[in-house]
Amino acid sequence: MRSAIIVALAAAASAASTPASLLKRQYHAAKPRLTADALKAHITAENLLAGSQKLQDFADAHPNNTRVIGSPGHNDTIYWLKSELEALDYYDVTLQTFSLVAMVSGQINAVIIDGANTTAGLLEYSASGAVTAPLVPVANLGCEASDYPAEVAGNVALISRGSCEFGLKSALAGSAGAAAAIIYNNAAGGFNGTLGVPPRPEGEYLPTVSISSELAATYLDAISGGATIDATIDVTTVVQNTSTSNVLATTRMGDHSNRLALGAHSDSVAAGPGINDDGSGTVGVLEVAKALSKYHVNNAVTFGFWSAEEEGLIGSTYYVENLPANESSQIRAYLNFDMIASPNYVFGVYDGDGDAFNISGPSGSTQIETFFEDFFESAGVNSTPTAFTGRSDYGPFLTANIPAGGLFTGAEVLKTEEEEEMFGGEAGVALDICYHAACDDITNLNMFAYELNSKAIAAAVATYATSWEGFPARNTTTVSRRSVVTDQMRKRKQPRHHGHRHGGCGHVPKASQ
Ligand SMILES: *[C@@H]1O[C@H](CO)[C@@H](O)[C@H](O)[C@H]1NC(C)=O
Ligand SMILES: *[C@@H]1O[C@H](CO)[C@@H](O)[C@H](O)[C@H]1NC(C)=O
Ligand SMILES: *[C@@H]1O[C@H](CO)[C@@H](O)[C@H](O)[C@H]1NC(C)=O
Ligand SMILES: *[C@@H]1O[C@H](CO)[C@@H](O)[C@H](O)[C@H]1NC(C)=O
Ligand SMILES: *[C@@H]1O[C@H](CO)[C@@H](O)[C@H](O)[C@H]1NC(C)=O
Ligand SMILES: *[C@@H]1O[C@H](CO)[C@@H](O)[C@H](O)[C@H]1NC(C)=O
Ligand SMILES: *[C@@H]1O[C@H](CO)[C@@H](O)[C@H](O)[C@H]1NC(C)=O
Ligand SMILES: *[C@@H]1O[C@H](CO)[C@@H](O)[C@H](O)[C@H]1NC(C)=O
Ligand SMILES: [Zn+2]
Repeated sequence: MRSAIIVALAAAASAASTPASLLKRQYHAAKPRLTADALKAHITAENLLAGSQKLQDFADAHPNNTRVIGSPGHNDTIYWLKSELEALDYYDVTLQTFSLVAMVSGQINAVIIDGANTTAGLLEYSASGAVTAPLVPVANLGCEASDYPAEVAGNVALISRGSCEFGLKSALAGSAGAAAAIIYNNAAGGFNGTLGVPPRPEGEYLPTVSISSELAATYLDAISGGATIDATIDVTTVVQNTSTSNVLATTRMGDHSNRLALGAHSDSVAAGPGINDDGSGTVGVLEVAKALSKYHVNNAVTFGFWSAEEEGLIGSTYYVENLPANESSQIRAYLNFDMIASPNYVFGVYDGDGDAFNISGPSGSTQIETFFEDFFESAGVNSTPTAFTGRSDYGPFLTANIPAGGLFTGAEVLKTEEEEEMFGGEAGVALDICYHAACDDITNLNMFAYELNSKAIAAAVATYATSWEGFPARNTTTVSRRSVVTDQMRKRKQPRHHGHRHGGCGHVPKASQ
């Protein structure tokens, strides 16, 4: 078998090249041959931790300790990724900038009902405001303008959850002149949710919070008995049009019509610095990009650091939707790494063949799942399938019928007894107790999982950048069915548990109705 170096030199010599491009090709061809073992050897816990510390420093350098989109800590992350990748002089590096409306911060200052501090949730995209006024119950489920009585004007609309979007209820209450809205649950307990990205044709959002069905029942009883219940709703939110960027880096070398793409998201939620979610994927993928630059590749590789994942996969969707058709068909596969160092980890592999969760990916997704399963087996550790719901940045790639796969060490779902046997750690405790919380900081990393998963990324990149042998050809039909499945999955409040299988996924988007 001829080595890749000889093939590349032969190509360079036979091409009708200018001296400059000939030199460049020879320079690239002179790089050593890529193997999985060689690339893995560059991945060290020390470098991963140093990268994570960098992200922690970006969050710490500014008020609110976050890397949420629109924050200076996130911008620092983007510029750092760009400069690290440019310094390698191996990739074409670009910032792909787009704008979106985001709630960059939000807090409840007080919810006092009938004189008592009340447990409430802040609906995402709620308006800011401080109101004290009587509660006025809304008829039915508040999905029609006619459900809102004249008395809501200037008062606090009390609306049941159900049947239509939270955003519609808030907007209709606003159009009816209410000063604030409370949406109460239609099942036991409280809930968190999103009003959805504004604007809505029905009107502007009010300051809007959620409460439990149990609390609401006591107020509704009292009001129907003739009492007046006063409520204070005091919330502060910042909802703004924000400009943000994906960072893209594609090898100059390699066959661009048989490209591998992989990525992680660069943003955190507002609550914290996001060092596991998804600082771990970001740094793991970056370390592999650095290592790869030392080698010759046969197939081009594109690294994507997606922005605004936490706002609804916005950066990766923008990337996929703006790919020219002739480039979309060149991407043979996409690999996603969102949370790879959870403190109470499992080695989760996206269930691309659907045998565990009955949601499979485009042809090729099975091969990627098998690749990672074999990787963990060779490393002498267990792995477990994790649902392939499209709830992280691979979702838009699936919609474009691009085969996908990836790794995930777990979020808010509790570890099962069986997972404790398979992976150690603690059953009955969340796989990441700091998921979407302030404590997702530099201490929230399991370094064993972090290092082994990053080596798995290296092994996959080395394999597919070398050859697609045994991998199915691209099906370039665009799928519409999957996005329907995905939307249904997104609306599910709780991740499913499938027997012993690991349920859940990187992100459980907030309910919108
Ligand atoms: C972050 O960068 C974007 C795009 O360049 C810019 O519009 C925004 O003002 C920056 N935000 C901060 C907080 O620096
Ligand atoms: C921090 O959060 C507060 C309130 O949530 C907000 O007003 C402020 O703008 C934020 N600061 C930065 C630097 O984003
Ligand atoms: C509500 O809680 C705040 C902060 O804990 C406290 O200062 C305030 O007095 C409480 N108000 C009522 C009505 O209980
Ligand atoms: C709603 O979100 C808040 C803040 O993240 C959290 O403390 C609370 O437990 C959540 N409530 C429910 C019912 O999920
Ligand atoms: C965002 O910008 C668009 C277009 O410029 C504008 O129509 C919209 O009102 C803005 N939204 C917010 C929340 O500022
Ligand atoms: C894709 O098509 C566009 C416009 O037709 C062209 O400019 C671009 O070079 C093509 N890209 C590739 C990779 O062939
Ligand atoms: C798997 O999903 C398909 C359609 O999405 C459905 O028809 C089938 O009944 C499901 N099978 C199981 C075992 O749930
Ligand atoms: C290509 O994908 C489409 C949409 O999922 C599917 O209907 C079709 O059967 C696929 N074709 C092949 C050859 O796999
Ligand atoms: Zn994430």
